[in-house]
Amino acid sequence: MSTTAVEPFDTVDLIRTKRSKGSLSTVEIDWLIDAYTRGYVGDEQMAALTMAIFLNGMERREIRDLTLAMIASGETMSFSTLGKTTVDKHSTGGVGDKITLPLAPLVASFGVAVPQLSGRGLGHTGGTLDKLESIPGWQASLSNSRMHEILSEVGAVICAAGSGLAPADGKLYALRDITGTVECIPLIASSIMSKKIAEGTAALVLDVKFGSGAFIKDIDESRRLAQTMVDLGKDAGVATTALLTDMSVPLGLTIGNALEVRESIETLSGGGPADIRELTVALAREMLTLAGQPDADVEAALDDGRALASWRRMIEAQGGDADAPLPTARETHVVTAESSGYLVRQEALPFGIAAWRLGAGRARKQDPVQAAAGIELHAKPGDRVVAGQPLFTLHTDEPARFDRALEAVGGAWTIGDEAPARTPLVAEKIS
Ligand code: URA
Repeated sequence: MSTTAVEPFDTVDLIRTKRSKGSLSTVEIDWLIDAYTRGYVGDEQMAALTMAIFLNGMERREIRDLTLAMIASGETMSFSTLGKTTVDKHSTGGVGDKITLPLAPLVASFGVAVPQLSGRGLGHTGGTLDKLESIPGWQASLSNSRMHEILSEVGAVICAAGSGLAPADGKLYALRDITGTVECIPLIASSIMSKKIAEGTAALVLDVKFGSGAFIKDIDESRRLAQTMVDLGKDAGVATTALLTDMSVPLGLTIGNALEVRESIETLSGGGPADIRELTVALAREMLTLAGQPDADVEAALDDGRALASWRRMIEAQGGDADAPLPTARETHVVTAESSGYLVRQEALPFGIAAWRLGAGRARKQDPVQAAAGIELHAKPGDRVVAGQPLFTLHTDEPARFDRALEAVGGAWTIGDEAPARTPLVAEKIS
């Protein structure tokens, strides 16, 4: 006679608890995540539960338990044999956010190991792997042993996160994506931190965005998210700090895969747009402070070729040709200034959506991306413009995409008589 294991809880009781603003115990959360991972708790029950959490929140202990349960659902990695301090960075994602590309080799040029397990983009925020895949020959997938080798020899590695890390989060995140429960602090914090803690980094710097191009728009909410993640990191023994950064304007002058790689190389060569350099330097300083090098001169490493040399080694270690020309789009369309004055507004989200519609991003996981598609900005808020001068250029291989991209970006900028007030890019540090 076959027997089935007796489950210790009824899922519907757990749903009712969260529905009526109660708390789940540690053992209930451990069971829930295990039972969901093995398929005993169904997607429809988990969807109801995540909606109840979305509406009623979770207390700090529950968020920590959820994070630990998701870590326990899969494998954990360790870099303890490397003989180098490891520091990782995570950004909550934005428009034109290519900072990982210059940042990882820059920090590695100080002898620190930077393991960047990254993903592909979905929707208007670009994926780091999609960007790097525009470099001829570059490979995103690495075995664990090759990843360790590169970290030991080069210091920086940016590669695909395997599905073995926090698989419960992979399943839950996909469900949240289609049930309107992504924008929820306890769920975002546990999702991001379960993967980062499972990865085994000793220290972590978070770039938590706010503003139109971020998925949490409000600065107070993003501060709460940052504090929750910093607390989770510290509770797990990972030295963690966060910068709250403004994502209301696209970062830099490019949005789109190969265009962003080009801008990253400019930054690594001591040039690049001022905001890209500023954020790269600010995050590098935080990472190196956590790695015990608070006085490292990161600007010098950008200016004297050390960071660029580190980039070349990182790209070549993953099969990329650092000297190959980057792909360029078959078609371009220039949008010009309708009047003279100051550019006072340039809204990140519509530009992100337009770049996505040009082919730089994907609507479904399985869609391909165009390496050369995207947008090149010719002016940023605060710049003086004259009527008729190019404001931005759309790039794509398929000209049929121009109309929908132009529709997305319509009304996303303003030209006025007075220069806008400058707001800081890095608003706060949370530690
Ligand atoms: N990124 C993640 O990995 N998880 C979330 O929930 C949101 C953003």
